[in-house]
Amino acid sequence: MTALTDSIAGGREKLAACRSGTVGLVPTMGALHAGHARLIEIARGECQTVVVSIFVNPLQFDRPSDLERYPRSLQRDLEVCSSLSVDLVFAPTEREVYPVPPLCTVEVARLGDHLCGPYRPGHFRGVATVVLKLFDIVQPDRAYFGEKDAQQLAIIRRMVSDLNVPVAIVEVPTVREPDGLALSSRNQRLSENERLLASSLYQALREAADQIAAGVRDARVVKQAAVGKLPGQIRLEYLEIVDPDEMQPVDHIDGAVRVAGAIWVGSTRLIDNLLCVPPEKGH
Ligand code: PAF
Repeated sequence: MTALTDSIAGGREKLAACRSGTVGLVPTMGALHAGHARLIEIARGECQTVVVSIFVNPLQFDRPSDLERYPRSLQRDLEVCSSLSVDLVFAPTEREVYPVPPLCTVEVARLGDHLCGPYRPGHFRGVATVVLKLFDIVQPDRAYFGEKDAQQLAIIRRMVSDLNVPVAIVEVPTVREPDGLALSSRNQRLSENERLLASSLYQALREAADQIAAGVRDARVVKQAAVGKLPGQIRLEYLEIVDPDEMQPVDHIDGAVRVAGAIWVGSTRLIDNLLCVPPEKGH
């Protein structure tokens, strides 16, 4: 039976009652899809107690319209959690998490300087702050995040390491539709025609991956080829090639890199990325 609580005290109490062995936390903003299900399944396989948090965190939304339009489906989410044998769903209200606007927030410097950072002011501060709060509330041994949000993952890893938070961060590969589109709660907002256009981001990233695999080392050349795959109806926000740990742009590709992009399809913003490891020289 999946227990549900919307309060921090209730969550702590229920956890004290059901906590045994390794505790895994899957932090989400709800509107659960197969990508979240994968995170939960992996947590279920590795932990004795699985907690899913569902909280649409206002602190990480840079545009009020995006917060308003963010899909919410608590009842369906609870059914998903129950079908995946989640032990506890923590779905707090905004008042519970932020009884007063916080004066103490978490800023992970430098890692948010590129990719999504400049386009979403305050976003990563909001993410790092709420994730640290969730870690403090649930005190998990392991926490599960999707590779689709690679910059978020790098920031959380660094926060945990810099602040000695005793939790293992588990990265779970991106789940994709058959045409390559990465699963995202925001995909629900796409019209039929927009849905067809949306997979072009994956095609652009694949083009970059193919160029890197073929031995191209100049990041500018790789980027140009990738951007060339995007149809005219797509608005490109960024397509960057960065080092996978600190998310800093590279000019020359001489080790593993992450190729990451953000596009707008109509009024929906989508992100995706691929880790690319160039072949050894001489092979
Ligand atoms: O990836 C998300 O859904 C959110 O950014 C997270 C990690 C749940 C924090 O609100």
